[in-house]
Amino acid sequence: MPHDHPLEEPGQSTRSLDPCIVIIFGATGDLTARKLMPALYNLKREGQIPSNFACVGFARREKTNDVFREEMKQAISEHSRVKPIDEPVWDTFKNQIYYHMSEFDDDAGYESLSKSLAEIGSSHGTRGNHIFYLSTQPSYFTKIVEKLRKHNLIYDHDESGEKWSKVIIEKPFGHDYDSAVQLQKELTQYLSEKQIYRIDHYLGKETVQNLLVFRFANSLFESLWNHRYIDHVQITVAEDIGIGTRGKFYEEQGLVRDIMQNHMMQLLSLVAMEPPVNLTADAIRDEKVKVLEALRPFTGDDFEKNAIRGQYGAGFVDGDPVKGYREEDNVDPNSTVETYAAVKLFIDNWRWDGVPFYLRGAKRLPKRTTEIAITFKEPPGVLFQKTSKNNEPNVLAIRIQPNEGIALKINSKVPGPSSPIQPVTMDFRYGAFFGLAPPDAYERLLCDCIAGDSTLFARQDEVFHSWKLFSPILEYWSKTPPKDFPSYEAGTWGPKSSDEMLKGDERSWRLI
Ligand SMILES: NC(=O)c1ccc[n+]([C@@H]2O[C@H](COP(=O)([O-])OP(=O)(O)OC[C@H]3O[C@@H](n4cnc5c(N)ncnc54)[C@H](OP(=O)(O)O)[C@@H]3O)[C@@H](O)[C@H]2O)c1
Repeated sequence: MPHDHPLEEPGQSTRSLDPCIVIIFGATGDLTARKLMPALYNLKREGQIPSNFACVGFARREKTNDVFREEMKQAISEHSRVKPIDEPVWDTFKNQIYYHMSEFDDDAGYESLSKSLAEIGSSHGTRGNHIFYLSTQPSYFTKIVEKLRKHNLIYDHDESGEKWSKVIIEKPFGHDYDSAVQLQKELTQYLSEKQIYRIDHYLGKETVQNLLVFRFANSLFESLWNHRYIDHVQITVAEDIGIGTRGKFYEEQGLVRDIMQNHMMQLLSLVAMEPPVNLTADAIRDEKVKVLEALRPFTGDDFEKNAIRGQYGAGFVDGDPVKGYREEDNVDPNSTVETYAAVKLFIDNWRWDGVPFYLRGAKRLPKRTTEIAITFKEPPGVLFQKTSKNNEPNVLAIRIQPNEGIALKINSKVPGPSSPIQPVTMDFRYGAFFGLAPPDAYERLLCDCIAGDSTLFARQDEVFHSWKLFSPILEYWSKTPPKDFPSYEAGTWGPKSSDEMLKGDERSWRLI
């Protein structure tokens, strides 16, 4: 069954999925077990991958195909969104899975990979089409691509070509602006931009895709979607968990690199973009880039006033005591890495003139939630605003996860003679309405890559513009170590300085 373009009506799709092999580099890792293999299995279960298909796992641990298949079965049983595993589907799927043992920088390993791919390709009829999924540390990205090119496993991109090769790159794309530019330069020695698919798994989420439908398929909201009616926008990505076993990784990343520079900026650009001229990948991404281009750069005291960082100390989550960040495994006891970040941004264009966008992302907050909240300006005060203390501005809250849905807060008269006013909420929940759990983001993205649709992947200029904003902030932070870390207790809503940033504007963070 062909998979539709993210924004097309079902049944309108004309795209078909070519036979192919997906080769996962880092196949014994966490991401493969939790996300990639369950996604491929669910695509198989739903008939959404071509029947001429195979998957090869590449990593350095020694193991046989049978052992790898058994491990992948365990991973799917544990992590698939649909349980239990469907045995007849698995019995077919397992014979499409292979393991290849090699070091990432070993030429002999690529030579044998080339032979294996030729054999697997001829037995599964995959016609030389390859997707290389780099689920590895970023330091290996260029090395792997260079080796693939050297061993003729990456072919030049050719629109009418008989076979194709594409590379999916996991985040993070660069550590800052300069390293992102450098990585791009290195990759494009071996690949064209059309062959590079930069994963930002937020873009694979149904609710994120729905942002465009919601904005541009409804005349109701679009006419209000500007500085005349919108007071401000808040984007929150809150996690209740800490960093778990990923201390080493987090010490190199921090909140901004892990979540804000990529996922949160994708949300911001979808909320703020102009209508694209059509639904092609480049038309949509052109409009997203214009938003990022119009972001007001940080200067002077913006670095202190409009960018807040924090780090969690010990506290309680769901009534249970939890460690502070500095006590977590593989974390420096004097670490200055941020686990909380909040910024106030302005988009200097016609639509958003003077409207602040407040973004906050954090670990160890009281609950897990991702939400975009649009707060509208209050109506003129002559009638109710002056007499009622209960009025609140209208807020449109788009919940990305969990409980995906959209809620609109409006003011209403309370029944009875005295006419007090009370805010009420109209709430739409995807799960309840459609009766379906949305597919996992990786299912959508893997399928789109097979189909050659890059709409839901980040383009190089999106990544660069986002780094242009955040690199100076990160640089400023590294030069001025924080004096107040840890600055919030685990299980609370972050440091006071963040509340003060909004208080200075006579606003406050939404209570979620
Ligand atoms: N995990 C997540 O939730 C998540 C989410 C978003 C993005 N990511 C990104 O996805 C990537 C992979 O993450 P992960 O958590 O899956 O990593 P991981 O658990 O550390 O796995 C790393 C994988 O790379 C292999 N490997 C490492 N060095 C190798 C070498 N020299 N030669 C051959 N194989 C080698 C390991 O194989 P052996 O086991 O054989 O050593 C393992 O399969 C990272 O870029 C990460 O930032 C991860």
